[in-house]
Amino acid sequence: MHYLTRRFSFSASHRLHSTAMDSAANTCAYGLCENIHGHNYRLEVTVKGTVDPKTGFFCNVMDLAAIVKRLVADPCEHQYLNDLPMFQGCVTTMENIAGRIWRTIEGELTAKGMTLVEVLVGETDENWVRLRGDE
Ligand code: NI
Repeated sequence: MHYLTRRFSFSASHRLHSTAMDSAANTCAYGLCENIHGHNYRLEVTVKGTVDPKTGFFCNVMDLAAIVKRLVADPCEHQYLNDLPMFQGCVTTMENIAGRIWRTIEGELTAKGMTLVEVLVGETDENWVRLRGDE
């Protein structure tokens, strides 16, 4: 089985605030991240498949790039993530952002013969989350 990863980036703002917690609990959990602030987000999408001997690949990386760009990277660019329909009803942590991105792109990737295996979302060079479908 081969795995193909495409990297994307977008710059966006967000704030961490949970309506399920009171003000003190929010401050305790999120600290300064309760304030609106920005990140240069890193997004990596990994798909897997079996190589077609005719083409030598299992999917066209340009299809992967176009789908994720249209559904995620472009709509998120220079936006306040908390206001986007994609992230309604969740706290915009890296974990939840990865989950919503997964939900947003999986259908179109599957339709093009790609099996989604990992969505990586990074806020900084130090912090990133990997969401995997098999766990
Ligand atoms: Ni943040």
